[in-house]
Amino acid sequence: MDAIRGTAKAELTAPVEAFLADLHARVSKVTGGSPADYIPELGKVDPSLFGIAIATVDGQIYEVGDTDVPFTIQSVSKPFMYGHALQRHGRPTVLKHVGVEPTGEAFNSIVLDEVANRPFNPMVNAGAIAVAEMMPGDTQEQRIGNMLDLFSSLAGRRLGIDEAVFRSELETGHRNRAIAYMMLNTAMIERDPNEVLDLYFRQCSVNVSCCDLAIMAATLANDGTNPLTGKAVFDAQYVRDMLTVMNSCGMYDYAGEWAYEVGMPAKSGVSGCIIAVMPGQIGICVYSPPIDTQGNSVRGIRVCQEISSEFELHAFNNRTNVRSVVRRDYRADLVRSNRLRTLEERNLLATEGHKVAVLEAQGALFFGSTEQLLRKTSALAADSRYVVVDFKRVHQADTSACKLIVRAAKSMEGSAAELVFASLAEDDRLDPLVRALAESQHGHRVRQFRDADAALEWCEDQLLAGANFNHGTKFAVSEINLFKGLSPGECRLVESVIRPLVFERGDVIMREGDEAKLFFVLARGTVSVQIKVHGKGNRKKRVARSAPASPSARWRCWTAAAAPPTSSPMSG
Ligand code: DON
Repeated sequence: MDAIRGTAKAELTAPVEAFLADLHARVSKVTGGSPADYIPELGKVDPSLFGIAIATVDGQIYEVGDTDVPFTIQSVSKPFMYGHALQRHGRPTVLKHVGVEPTGEAFNSIVLDEVANRPFNPMVNAGAIAVAEMMPGDTQEQRIGNMLDLFSSLAGRRLGIDEAVFRSELETGHRNRAIAYMMLNTAMIERDPNEVLDLYFRQCSVNVSCCDLAIMAATLANDGTNPLTGKAVFDAQYVRDMLTVMNSCGMYDYAGEWAYEVGMPAKSGVSGCIIAVMPGQIGICVYSPPIDTQGNSVRGIRVCQEISSEFELHAFNNRTNVRSVVRRDYRADLVRSNRLRTLEERNLLATEGHKVAVLEAQGALFFGSTEQLLRKTSALAADSRYVVVDFKRVHQADTSACKLIVRAAKSMEGSAAELVFASLAEDDRLDPLVRALAESQHGHRVRQFRDADAALEWCEDQLLAGANFNHGTKFAVSEINLFKGLSPGECRLVESVIRPLVFERGDVIMREGDEAKLFFVLARGTVSVQIKVHGKGNRKKRVARSAPASPSARWRCWTAAAAPPTSSPMSG
C-alpha cells in the first residue's frame, strides 16, 4: 500500500519538479551581475551556486540545485524582524519608529521622512535598524537569543550565525553606523547605536539554506503558521502588514517593476537570495549570488518572473468566486428530515413543506461571499415560513462576515420568515461567528441546531403543530399504528404480553453490543439512533430518528418481555 502511495505521489508531483528542473537548466545560462563584495566575506562566495525551492502551505517542498548550501540571510531578515516587532509591540508603537512609505531609493540610502522624522519603511537599512532596536531582551545576549529563536521557529530547525560574515560587516559597515548615529540624533533610536548595529549585523548573518527561506516564505503564505512545524509565529493581521511592505518596498528601487511583472510580495538580500510569497499558496526562494546594481539577484529575478508567468501567480489575478458560496437550496416538500413520519404527516409535509427553505453554504465567508449568501437568504425568505442556513461546508468566517450575519439576524427579526442556523458549532472552525451571534442581542435569538437534519425536523414539527397534528396523551394499544386493525381480543392478547416503559429525554435505551432480547414498540415521543464519529473524540452523529406521533418531552414505549405482563394500556 505504501509503495503504491509512493508511486502515486511521485507521478502527481512530477509536473512541478519537471518545470523547476527545466527552469533551473535554462536560467543557469543567464549571466550578469556579480556577488556583493562591499562586505568582504560575501565576495568570497562561489558565484555559480544556484538553487530554487518552493514550499507549499502544507509543507511540500519542491527543490532543484544548491538548495542545502548555507548562505547569510541578509536583508531577507528584515520583514521577519518587522513582523516580530509588530507581534510584540503592536502597530501604533512600531509605526512611531518606522513608516510604510516606499522610498524608490537604494537599500542603504540615508534619508528619513522629514515630517515624522522616522525611517521611510522597515525594508531599507534605516528602518531595519530602528526595528532591530525593538527586539525584546534585558541584555544583548538575550536579544540575540530571541532573534535566533525567531528565525529558528520560522525555518523549523535551529539556525546559527556565520561569524565570519558578521565580523566582516561589523568591521566595514560604516554607512550603517552613519545611519544609526543619524537616528540617535533624531531620537529614533535610544540605545547605544553600536549595540543596535551588533544585533542588526547578526540578524543579517544568520545562516540559512534555500529550503529554509522557502519555508519561511511559506509561513507567510500560510497566515503566519510554519507549515512544517504547525507553530504559529505571527498573527495573520501582522502577516498582512509584512506582505504589504514587502510588496511596495521589498525590492527597493525595482519594487514597482517587480510588482507589475511578478506580482508577489518579495524580499531580496545581497547574498543573492530572493523570497516571494503567494498568499494562501506557496513561498519561493531563489539563491544565486550575482546581484545587479539594485542589490537583487539577477537569476533570482528571472526565476521568479518565469514561475509567476508559468503558474499565473500574480497576486492580482482574481481567483475568487463569490457565487459558489451557495452550494444548493431546497424545500422541505421535496427533501424531508430523517425522522420517520406517519403517512398523514408525510402528506401534510408534501403540501406544506415548501414553506421551509434550506440553503447550504460552502467555502469561506468574507464580505463578497456573505453578501451573496444573505441576498439569497432574503430572496428565499420572501416566500418561506422558515429559512435554514446550513454552515456545514463553511470552513471560515471573517469578522466582516460575522458582522453581516448578525445584521441579517437583526433585519429578519419580526419578519414573516424565521431564520434558523445549522452546523455552526460542529467544531471550532466557526467560533468567531458563534461568538458574534451569542454576543449580539439579535444573533442569540436565531434558533440554532447541530445539523441541517435537526433544523429541518424542527421546522417540520412547527408545520405539523400548526396543522394540529398533536394527538393528545391518552392512548390504547389499538391506537398504535402497528396494532391498528387488530380485533379487540387480539389487542387484549398483545396487552397481556407487553409492559409499558417510560423514558425521560436523553435516556439511553440501548447501546451498541447490548443483548437483543426485547422488542420495543414506540407509543409516544421520539427516539434517535446515534453512532460514534471515528476520530472525533466523543462526538456522535444522529443517523435516524423515529416517532409515532408529535414530539414530547417524555416518551413511552412497551416492550414484549419474558417477564409477566404488568400493565394494560397506558394513559397519562
Ligand atoms: O545592511 C546591509 O548592508 C546588509 N547587511 C544587508 C543589505 C541587504 O541585504 C540589502 N538587500 N538587498
